[in-house]
Amino acid sequence: MELRDDHLSALIALVRQHTGIAMNEHKRVLLQGRLLPRLRALGIASWAGYIERLASDRTEVTSFIDSVTTNDTVFFRTPAVWSWLSETFLPAFAAQGRAAPLRIWSAAAATGEEAYSLAMSCLEYQAHAPGLRFEILGTDISHAALATARAGAYRGRSVARFEADRPALFRKYLVAHGDGVKVDPAVAQHVRFDQHNLLGRPPRSAAFDLVMLRNVLIYFDAEHQQQVLAGARAAMGPSARLVLGEQESITRLQTAFAFEQAHVYRIGGEPS
Ligand SMILES: C[S@@+](CC[C@H](N)C(=O)[O-])C[C@H]1O[C@@H](n2cnc3c(N)ncnc32)[C@H](O)[C@@H]1O
Repeated sequence: MELRDDHLSALIALVRQHTGIAMNEHKRVLLQGRLLPRLRALGIASWAGYIERLASDRTEVTSFIDSVTTNDTVFFRTPAVWSWLSETFLPAFAAQGRAAPLRIWSAAAATGEEAYSLAMSCLEYQAHAPGLRFEILGTDISHAALATARAGAYRGRSVARFEADRPALFRKYLVAHGDGVKVDPAVAQHVRFDQHNLLGRPPRSAAFDLVMLRNVLIYFDAEHQQQVLAGARAAMGPSARLVLGEQESITRLQTAFAFEQAHVYRIGGEPS
């Protein structure tokens, strides 16, 4: 079914309205490929009809968001970040001797692998700091991705590399489940998932010590990147750290953050 320019523009505007994601006409094939199954499922015969449907059907907006977002992720993505977490961030946090639990926000958590990787890292660190308590919140705009995250059951690409790279952790924290694996309840009990739009208000349970905001800024234009970063800042405690994805740099933006080391940012201009 041909996607006319005016309908493509309308869909791009709807993507921006509902997710903040910036797309352009180069995304024509991607949008067609992802949304045609929705038209077929609904028995809608034209793009105009689908666009009309989105204006009046909140449930379809949820499916639209699920379709247009890219939820790719893996366990322990970007190994350098996980070394920094275990060798720098967690020792520094434990040394503070704070009574309150460590609070981590996996923003744009997709299907949950990052949030569970955080929980496994904290559990491993308890060997050095037995009193370490921690809570992890994973959020995403996609309901479908969150359903997978809450189920904590995985197979294929998202676990293959994990098993190859970290076999001991894999055996310790994942249990066989059908033709894949499931996150052990000892890990899952530390992780909660909520639906959240990064362009909205920060989650209510704010004052996080660590915010993982990885591989999502790339989908936004500069205006929305600034807005998302301001939201992240508002959700962080004064000595918290922000972690971005490998392809993401915020140095050209006006933000509250200062570069600390690859992928890691702190608040303000002075070391804390
Ligand atoms: C490529 S995944 C990144 C997953 C994980 N953070 C990682 O680095 O592996 C990007 C995620 O951002 C989510 N996303 C896109 N726009 C969003 C928004 N406005 N608010 C919250 N999440 C959003 C998508 O649903 C998707 O799951």
